[in-house]
This record gives sequence, C-alpha cells and structure tokens, in this order.
Amino acid sequence: MLKLLSIHTSYGHIKALKDIDIEIAKGEIVCLIGSNGAGKTTTLLTISGILKPDSGDMIFEGESLKNMAPHNVVNKGICQVPEGRRIFPRLTVSENLEMGAYSIGKRQKTKGKQYNMEKVFNLFPVLKERTKQMGGTLSGGEQQMLAIGRALMANPKLLLLDEPSLGLAPIMVSKIFKTIKEINEEGVTILLVEQNAKAALRLSHRGYVLENGVIKLSGRGEDLLHNENVKKAYLGD
Ligand SMILES: Nc1ncnc2c1ncn2[C@@H]1O[C@H](COP(=O)(O)OP(=O)(O)OP(=O)(O)O)[C@@H](O)[C@H]1O
Ligand SMILES: [Mg+2]
Repeated sequence: MLKLLSIHTSYGHIKALKDIDIEIAKGEIVCLIGSNGAGKTTTLLTISGILKPDSGDMIFEGESLKNMAPHNVVNKGICQVPEGRRIFPRLTVSENLEMGAYSIGKRQKTKGKQYNMEKVFNLFPVLKERTKQMGGTLSGGEQQMLAIGRALMANPKLLLLDEPSLGLAPIMVSKIFKTIKEINEEGVTILLVEQNAKAALRLSHRGYVLENGVIKLSGRGEDLLHNENVKKAYLGD
C-alpha cells in the first residue's frame, strides 16, 4: 500500500531521516518505535507532505507522494493524528468531528466501511455524551479519542498515529490500544508511532526500530518483542 524508498529528510542542516525504507501492506498495523528525537514524527510528517524529503520516494497505491501537497495526501486517503492531539479547543465535539469529514466531499467514495459520527460514537461512547462540550475542556484521554475520531471521519485508508498513548493513565492507554485494533479490524491500515514500545509491538503485525534517523531493525512485532537488543533499549526488561 505504502512504500518509503530511501527517504532523506532534514531541517536545515540537521539530517533527521537517513535512507529510510518502510513498507506497509494493506490491512496491517505497523509500528515505529525509537527514543526521543529518533525521527518518528519526522517520518509521519514526511508521509503527510508537511515536510518535503531531500531525496528518495514514497509510493502510495502506485502513485508518488513526493511532490504532493498535504491536502492532496489527505484526499488520497492518508490521515494523520498529530502528536499532542491538536483538536480545535473552541469548537464543540460535534464540530470537531464535522471538520474531519470536510475532506471526503472532494474524494471519490472509498469502498467498504464508511465512518460517520454514529460510528465514531460506537467506538468512543463517551464522546456521544459530550457532543456540545468544547474540545478544549475535554480530558486528555477524551481529546485523544476526539482526535482519532476526527481523523476517521475522513474515511482514511491509512491512519498515521503519533504517540496516541502519551500522557494517558494506564486504563485509558488500554482503551486506546483496544480501539486501534478495532479500527484496523474494520479495514483501516495503521502506522503507529509509540514510546510505549511493548504495547505497540504486541498490537502490531510488524515493527521498525528507528535510531538517530536510521532504521536499525525491523521484523514481526512478536519477534521484536523477544529481540535482546530491543528488550534492553526499549522494553525495560
Ligand atoms: N522543526 C525542527 N527544526 C529543527 N530540528 C528539528 C525540528 N523538528 C525536529 N527536529 C529534530 O529532528 C530530529 C527528529 O525529531 P522528531 O520530532 O522526528 O523525533 P521523534 O522520534 O518524534 O521524538 P519524540 O519521541 O521526542 O517525539 C530531532 O533531532 C529533532 O531535534
Ligand atoms: Mg515525535
């Protein structure tokens, strides 16, 4: 579905991504793990078209994303839930969700499951009780649900999640991970960036380990969970 081929991305003279190759097949959950500053967010921003790579290519369903503007990447079916959620604090829950649906008007209807507000409420019932509440007054976990719900309203084929569990209490973390699995089972392919490496690898079909802008390891989620180097560096075992 998506292939990153030898991607290099930099911020001025800082080289943040060096020769990144990542492949995501339709239907997979793939995770990207690595320490602070490894280049995880940069990878997602490059896919979304927000950052332009210096070289390399990105092929999504046979088409290059390399010179595509961010809104066209969304129109192709790739939606990102940014780090730190970034919902609209002064819009209500319903209005935030409606903003997510804005892009599908311009896109051909995708086959299969279509998300709408009712379906988002089925995934996150707590949002239904709060449709009129301002986004900014929701708890951190609720804002994360709203951010994911908003991205789903655009009916993504590929959902990019940047640290969805960051700063959440353990019970909320399990809820978010459970929901990511449900969303995937409904047919959405997922690229998940996480510091919570153990939970991410358990959930994912495959994973990539990023260190200082370079892919150090990749493999099946289960295999990486048992890899000695991964255990030492990322799993606290
Ligand atoms: N706007 C920017 N300008 C300059 N350097 C940047 C910018 N954004 C990120 N970087 C640098 O690029 C590198 C990769 O950053 P990135 O945000 O991708 O890391 P990350 O893996 O997402 O880290 P974290 O887990 O802390 O979110 C870091 O060295 C960072 O300092
Ligand atoms: Mg980041």
